[in-house]
Amino acid sequence: MIKKAIIPVAGLASRFLPASKVIPKTMFPIIDKPIIQFLVEEAVEAGIEEIAIILSPRQDIVKNHFKEDEFLEQELRSRGKTLEAETVHSTTHLAKIHFFTQEHPLGDGHALLQAESFLDENEACLVLFGDELIGTSHERNASAQLIKYYNDVQTPIIGVHEVSEEEVHRYGIVGLNEETEINSLVEKPSPGDAPSNLAIIGKYIINSEVLRCIKESSSGTTDKELRLIDGLKTYLESKNIHALTLDGQRFDTGNKLGLIKANIYFGLKDKDITDSLKNFLRTVEK
Ligand code: G1P
Repeated sequence: MIKKAIIPVAGLASRFLPASKVIPKTMFPIIDKPIIQFLVEEAVEAGIEEIAIILSPRQDIVKNHFKEDEFLEQELRSRGKTLEAETVHSTTHLAKIHFFTQEHPLGDGHALLQAESFLDENEACLVLFGDELIGTSHERNASAQLIKYYNDVQTPIIGVHEVSEEEVHRYGIVGLNEETEINSLVEKPSPGDAPSNLAIIGKYIINSEVLRCIKESSSGTTDKELRLIDGLKTYLESKNIHALTLDGQRFDTGNKLGLIKANIYFGLKDKDITDSLKNFLRTVEK
């Protein structure tokens, strides 16, 4: 059973400057909840009990978000705001959260390696990149879909989504053997070189051996970064990896449009504002 998740969020978020100068992008709200809490809740809903969050040294505010805040809770209770006090309280009890620091931004693979000690030998875990949210009306959220599939195939899994030909150059693209068995991984190909239009969207099941493969792999670039996709390529040389097309509406909150779309999508699901938001959207259409 998969009970652990790793969420690397250490990034510069340069697309969101100046907003991201002090506030890490993962703390940006979708309506009233930071992105990182969406990811933690998605994992917990899928059965995850322990989560490793990888931060840069400037992101301590994320730790504070998941820490008790007795003063705030007390203050809210004394004003009769019980529900709000419960909301604050519940952020500290979502899961057992461990924090790891990535001292230097040396790639997503390097970030994951900071949490190497979090996994036991041969243990598999969920990996959720900090930018990707998937809204789903499916009975299972994206993480639960990955875990269910893992239980069937018992290999690492890469969550994918279909993208248009013009978009393949922005993603890692998987090539498939049979229905879901991966036979090639190409990072950010030009349209002519893409083995398919199935894009890697930052949700994976990996294991401790994939982490070892990240260490062994050289990125093929001169920037000395370590990347998860290179570890997966090395792993694929001798073992199987499957792809799973994730069901749901995908939001890349790592870009401005994606963040706005996610706010509209989740805003329309928020009963306090859905009607007013619909009315507003009708007026801006004109
Ligand atoms: C990384 C991965 C890429 C994947 C993408 C998803 O790229 O290397 O394979 O498609 O995340 O968000 P990055 O966006 O960090 O350049």
